[in-house]
Amino acid sequence: MATTSSPMHLSLETNHKTQPIAIQTPTSGSSLTPPVTPIGKENDPKNTLPDLLIGANPAETSALVKRNNCTPLRFTDELEVCSDAEERPIEFGRGAWSIVYKARSRPNATVAIAINTPPSSPTATTRVYAMKSPVRRDARPVLQAEALTLTRLNLIPGYERYVVPFHGYHTPTESLVMSAVPLALSTYIEDQADLMRKRGPSTATMFDPVQGSEPWKNLALKLISGLEWLHKTAGIIHGDIKPHNLLLRPMSPDDELSASIDAFPYEPLFADFSSALDISPENGRDGNQSSMSAFTPPFTAPELLSLASLKSGDVDPTPASDVFSLAATLVAAATGDLLLYPGSSNMQRLAMARDGQRILEFTRCGSNGSRVPRNGFVEKLIQPAISKDPAQRIDISEWVTLASV
Ligand SMILES: Nc1ncnc2c1ncn2[C@@H]1O[C@H](COP(=O)(O)OP(=O)(O)OP(=O)(O)O)[C@@H](O)[C@H]1O
Ligand SMILES: [Mg+2]
Repeated sequence: MATTSSPMHLSLETNHKTQPIAIQTPTSGSSLTPPVTPIGKENDPKNTLPDLLIGANPAETSALVKRNNCTPLRFTDELEVCSDAEERPIEFGRGAWSIVYKARSRPNATVAIAINTPPSSPTATTRVYAMKSPVRRDARPVLQAEALTLTRLNLIPGYERYVVPFHGYHTPTESLVMSAVPLALSTYIEDQADLMRKRGPSTATMFDPVQGSEPWKNLALKLISGLEWLHKTAGIIHGDIKPHNLLLRPMSPDDELSASIDAFPYEPLFADFSSALDISPENGRDGNQSSMSAFTPPFTAPELLSLASLKSGDVDPTPASDVFSLAATLVAAATGDLLLYPGSSNMQRLAMARDGQRILEFTRCGSNGSRVPRNGFVEKLIQPAISKDPAQRIDISEWVTLASV
């Protein structure tokens, strides 16, 4: 058995030497390939997870962008990537599609705005942004579609509490420009786990989530409320919820809750809408999903990973699959094990993810299993959200009620 000071991140070797696994599926020449997804702490392979990319039809996505009523917000100021002392570009993170750079804006004197596109308000001063740039040719249409989703989301009242602020699509660099929120939940989870390891084992806290019971409950309530807003108010399925795609904005000192020692001290914001699906009544079922999606197996609902789904290409995320992914994210937050099933190989991990309804059982076999005790509050909140049958999973509004208790 591994000790808490030496967790066994055996399964997903995701450093740059890892050979991608490719599983052929019958969808338009698609392959199921986990590319490197280094996220969070820079160059930290243990903080990485591979994604499965399914299907690639850029033309389809471009058409989708054009036919959607909404045109993406444009970012018209000049952008400059910030560099470190060695003149290397500063990165906030990376994903399957992109590198997210730290960038600085310079007001553009000769603003050229595309016809029919609402311009972002030109700024008089220099500002720091996160600039999400494509790393693969087929990422361009994915990012364009994400720009549309973010444009739509940023118009819906309440977005500022739940979604990363979007400043527009920067045409010259084909990049998304967002507010910089440099802490991902994945990094926070790892930091909390490190802290626990440094403190050493303690019988007083070994049955609690790594960050403590009340902060975990508060984080859960915030995330579940955010997902309810996303599904019910915005009509968007995220499609790739995992700790790496949630950013943490420090709470403002004015906020009453931030004064409470039991509160989770950040506002978690949903980011990375590259796999999102629009289910709003006005747009119907539309989104990036029709052409390409990225999955991260341990956080992906089992029904999307079944051989039958992969063979048929019927891998559209649903509100219920988002609920599963958020539940898995909360399990990772409780145990501090970002890879969820430490001590397994790639294929074992995929097999376990396909049996995701047993996630708590699997987790209890790990070195931090004591943090999700039987009949404890973590289990009570997670169990209804991970049923094998998606139709049996808790409704998001009922989940908010359960998390509010
Ligand atoms: N607004 C932001 N501010 C700071 N860092 C960010 C921001 N957006 C993203 N990041 C960092 O960059 C990483 C990659 O971004 P993102 O997840 O959007 O890319 P992706 O290529 O779509 O990833 P995925 O592999 O999940 O599909 C994030 O995990 C996060 O660490
Ligand atoms: Mg991501």
